[in-house]
Amino acid sequence: MSPNPSSLYDDVADVLISQEAIQQRVAELGQQITLDFAGSEVLMIAVLKGALLFLADLVRNVNLPVAMDFLAVSSYGAGTSSSGVVRILKDLDEPIEGRNVVIVEDIVDSGRTLDYLLRMLRQRHPATLHVCTLLDKRERREINVPIDYVGFEVPDEFVVGYGLDFAEYYRQLPFIGVLKPEIYQ
Ligand code: PRP
Repeated sequence: MSPNPSSLYDDVADVLISQEAIQQRVAELGQQITLDFAGSEVLMIAVLKGALLFLADLVRNVNLPVAMDFLAVSSYGAGTSSSGVVRILKDLDEPIEGRNVVIVEDIVDSGRTLDYLLRMLRQRHPATLHVCTLLDKRERREINVPIDYVGFEVPDEFVVGYGLDFAEYYRQLPFIGVLKPEIYQ
């Protein structure tokens, strides 16, 4: 598979969530986190690579002392459905004991990745542990996971853009969209 070299936008069948809607919602989430953690410091942990764009926009809407760290995990491979296998590719740089931690995800699908990460991070004794995801594909959930902040609920379609990829492409699209079937078939 390779994306259309003339324009990535030509590969998109439908825009599910516009750039404007994302920016508006991210601002609201940032304001909510600012209120909820008033007077505290927050460590925001992005799960690479999908959450990179979301974290970058989210922190610009959080008016608190914020530190950032990154986890890289593998759960999907190059296909379009979850294998259920979670592997830590890059661990955190810093201890989280006693800190207010917010895990930042681009999407929660089966919930397997988040379930694994929550169990792993709880063992490190953070003061608080919350979850913020841009997208929630709730109808695909296999494991019940607590999510504190949700940007949008999305249907069971393969979505790309704003950090989400197909075979590592399309992450830079500023909206959430669905690819034309011929791209991934
Ligand atoms: C996606 C997403 C979550 C996970 C959600 O990551 O960022 O980490 O899958 O799926 P689950 O709820 O079924 O576990 P992906 O493995 O696609 O990696 P990426 O962020 O690098 O694209």
